[in-house]
Amino acid sequence: MINGKRPTVKSRPSFAVSRSPFTVPMRQIIDTQDGSHSILSEEFGVSYHSKYGAIQESMHVFIEAGLHPRMHETQQLDVLGIGFGTGLNALLTCIEADKQQVKIDYTAVEAYPLSLEIISQLNYTTELQLTSQDNFFDKIHDATWENRVAIHPYFSIEKNNMRFEEIDAENAFDVIFFDAFAPNSQPELWEAPMFQKMYKALRSNGILTTYCAKGVVKRTLKSVGFTIEALPGPPGKREMTRALKMPKSKSQAPNSK
Ligand SMILES: C[S@@+](CC[C@H](N)C(=O)[O-])C[C@H]1O[C@@H](n2cnc3c(N)ncnc32)[C@H](O)[C@@H]1O
Repeated sequence: MINGKRPTVKSRPSFAVSRSPFTVPMRQIIDTQDGSHSILSEEFGVSYHSKYGAIQESMHVFIEAGLHPRMHETQQLDVLGIGFGTGLNALLTCIEADKQQVKIDYTAVEAYPLSLEIISQLNYTTELQLTSQDNFFDKIHDATWENRVAIHPYFSIEKNNMRFEEIDAENAFDVIFFDAFAPNSQPELWEAPMFQKMYKALRSNGILTTYCAKGVVKRTLKSVGFTIEALPGPPGKREMTRALKMPKSKSQAPNSK
């Protein structure tokens, strides 16, 4: 349940070249420079990941900057994935939970799920050298929507087919992967009302990470109460942003310097 107290998205340039010929209306599989696939959304005019590497970007921005700091402190985490998309962030989290034996309950939100036809052609299992024993990618995509499903003893997922705007969770998550399309494509998702929702959804000491490093986005995050860190970005990008929900006594008042 994403709307209760307990849990039950730098511009990304468009791509000129694709070695993968498969297309469906509005969505096209593309190759990124680390060899992993991404999707080009013709509707929104952007790709789902960095052209320099989908896996590389997700590992850097979400797993290393978002998940690892909290994973090293606790044995149980609730993670909210804003934008399920290809399921790559969920998959990488699932792999980390298995490796480090930290229990993670992942909640994903997605308004426009990809077709199974597209999903079945994504190369993440091969690129990540997953064996048939740990074929988490298929299990994550086979999981029924709107239900919490255990993928392995340390990882469960609940995929919610809904709009980000409908999220109404409170003190429910330790980490948020904010992986919406870029502000120039969906500006309304990077404004104060959305970030207020994210702030409310996080527990004290919670972390929100995003690939975006725009000044206006950082200022908006700060205006709703977050403490901002500018971190080195993944290859091809100078910076990324990590936003912290500090415990009450340590947090800055909204709009303070
Ligand atoms: C940058 S992609 C997410 C990539 C994803 N994390 C992955 O690993 O593939 C942004 C996602 O947000 C979804 N989306 C766009 N607008 C939305 C909205 N208002 N509510 C929910 N999902 C939305 C898109 O369909 C897309 O899957």
